[in-house]
Amino acid sequence: MNTAAERTDAKPAVTVIGLGEMGSALAGAFLDGGHPTTVWNRTPERADPLVARGADRSETVRDAVAASPLVVVSVKGNATARAVLEASGDALSGRSVLNLTDGTSAEARAVAEWVRGQGARYLHGQIMTIAPGIGAAETVVFYGGSDAVFRDFRPALALLGGRATLVSADAGVPALYGMAVHGTMWGALNGFLHGAALLSSEGIEMRRFLDDAGPSVAALLASFPVIADEIDRGEYATPYGALQHHLPSIEDLIRESGDRNIDVELPAYTLGLVNEAVQDGHAEDSYARLIEHFRKE
Ligand SMILES: NC(=O)c1ccc[n+]([C@@H]2O[C@H](COP(=O)([O-])OP(=O)(O)OC[C@H]3O[C@@H](n4cnc5c(N)ncnc54)[C@H](OP(=O)(O)O)[C@@H]3O)[C@@H](O)[C@H]2O)c1
Repeated sequence: MNTAAERTDAKPAVTVIGLGEMGSALAGAFLDGGHPTTVWNRTPERADPLVARGADRSETVRDAVAASPLVVVSVKGNATARAVLEASGDALSGRSVLNLTDGTSAEARAVAEWVRGQGARYLHGQIMTIAPGIGAAETVVFYGGSDAVFRDFRPALALLGGRATLVSADAGVPALYGMAVHGTMWGALNGFLHGAALLSSEGIEMRRFLDDAGPSVAALLASFPVIADEIDRGEYATPYGALQHHLPSIEDLIRESGDRNIDVELPAYTLGLVNEAVQDGHAEDSYARLIEHFRKE
């Protein structure tokens, strides 16, 4: 049987290194998309289901890297990503590396610099879904690094997620995008769950609340572009809804929560932020002014 590299399919061969939950989903998407797919994993048996679906298993990282022009890496941490790629020796030269391993922006940049030093092109990707979401039209993947890799392998990348965006030539930026989304998510989820504790203490079901208050909650997202513009301009003057008008509502929430024996740490933190800004003379500014607190300059 021909190896993946020897077949003459029009679709470029892809190597996937790392077959955990995510790497297996990535390799499966390439297989389903008709790409000759070579796989390598530290624990070789994890490749068995993919081999049964038509993937070629390499015994070594070097063979795996040599098998395809596009080398996709999905392992635990960027230190591991680099260590695994180091094992490929000079086989990396001339390849395109797509690293889909999560970490900090600095870690991604360090891997990018090292890979480029081996004579390979580098693209980093931040996957914004869990493994079952790979391949869905609405799945978002932020890419950063070589626009040539992004362009040359665009159809293959589209198999991973329908919403593929090259956000920067800098390989570190996708991680920042991901963190900004996740940070927004955790903030919103914490607020929602605090609200749920409040409502359920009154016996109100959350589905009923969402039916009634859904548009009000959705309006929050609709306000983000205005906040984004204020932050980008560094101007926080507002005719309505200034910081000082938030204070009574936050204090009410804290008193209500306390009365119901519900944790007040979250609204108390918010109260601290707003009070700090008001005391610094920003009572008439919009909520976006609080960006200055987080910057800690
Ligand atoms: N799972 C998700 O839903 C999801 C979503 C978004 C992003 N991600 C990201 O995708 C990446 C992979 O995550 P995962 O969920 O697939 O993780 P996982 O299921 O825990 O698999 C980890 C992978 O890393 C490999 N690995 C760990 N240490 C290694 C080492 N020292 N040398 C060689 N290989 C090593 C493992 O090999 P063995 O099989 O030999 O242990 C396995 O292939 C992570 O950066 C994660 O944050 C995952």
